[in-house]
Amino acid sequence: MRKFRTYGEVEHSTGSELLEQVLDQRDRLARRLAEVGTIVAVASGKGGVGKSAVTANLAVSLAARGHRVGVLDADLNGPSLGRMLGVVDAGLEDRADGVVPAEGPRGVRVISMELLQDREDAPLRWKEPNSDTFLWQSSMEAMALREFLADVAWGKLDYLLVDVPPGTDKIRRLLELVPTLPVALLVSTPAEMSRAVVLRSIRLVREAGVPSVALVANMTEYLCPDCGHRGSLFRGDGVRRLAEESGLPIWAEVPFDPRLGEATDRGVPPAAEQAANPVAEAFARIVARLEEPPGPDHEAPGSPSGSADPETSS
Ligand SMILES: Nc1ncnc2c1ncn2[C@@H]1O[C@H](COP(=O)(O)OP(=O)(O)OP(=O)(O)O)[C@@H](O)[C@H]1O
Ligand SMILES: [Mg+2]
Repeated sequence: MRKFRTYGEVEHSTGSELLEQVLDQRDRLARRLAEVGTIVAVASGKGGVGKSAVTANLAVSLAARGHRVGVLDADLNGPSLGRMLGVVDAGLEDRADGVVPAEGPRGVRVISMELLQDREDAPLRWKEPNSDTFLWQSSMEAMALREFLADVAWGKLDYLLVDVPPGTDKIRRLLELVPTLPVALLVSTPAEMSRAVVLRSIRLVREAGVPSVALVANMTEYLCPDCGHRGSLFRGDGVRRLAEESGLPIWAEVPFDPRLGEATDRGVPPAAEQAANPVAEAFARIVARLEEPPGPDHEAPGSPSGSADPETSS
């Protein structure tokens, strides 16, 4: 019988000295990060714009191309990637070299708070802070995120996607842990409401010197699952305006496709399965960009390469 421990109690072969543990964890973080190829933050600042759905579909699309992919659900309060990658019931194994991530579709490795729920057979549990004062909660969150990065046996990865929860402070927290973050994808819908928030996030990642920053426009138009007709969804052209104002490229425009939402929420993100449709094409475009060797992005702002004809979008 396994003895249950709370997540905070897990320690690996260091003494109980706090400083020693912290230093050891910092070393482990550096060692782990050296093994995970390209860390891609999927963020926005704004809630409900489709960050998690984009993360899940991008993960399977990358894996379908043969890449080794990990997904870290940094949303501790509203985790969704366990469900979106169909592993909520998988449970986690705690090995000497770290917690083994659950394996989702196409071998995508997933770590999410959803996997640390209080279940009878859970080898690890997350104990929420008793106090809900902001300071305490945010330091607990920072700690949990560090553990997700440092104490998970990710193994060798080509890409580690991090689903960053809403709030610009969450982006800042990730940047503190991963100051050399190579890629940030900022998801936005065309709604004007997203624009101001996403602009703040853009400023933040730029100030942090993230070398590759790009926009992903989500829900740009409505894609009818029955007849394939594409109609307008939001008034306004918030993402193009964002691109113009910030000079950032739009890597893809993902239409609103009810099948995409339904299948993703059911744990089978469809982007990698469906051939030749606007959703799969949008994700293939992001994959192609990520596969390009790193370097300055010279694309003219606001013109997604090879994307839908601007004439056809509202
Ligand atoms: N392009 C799309 N077409 C259809 N459904 C979508 C699309 N993008 C997202 N959805 C669905 O919309 C809902 C909200 O998306 P999601 O949870 O990914 O947003 P989020 O930005 O991660 O939200 P939060 O800020 O709460 O974390 C989900 O049910 C998701 O499957
Ligand atoms: Mg989310």
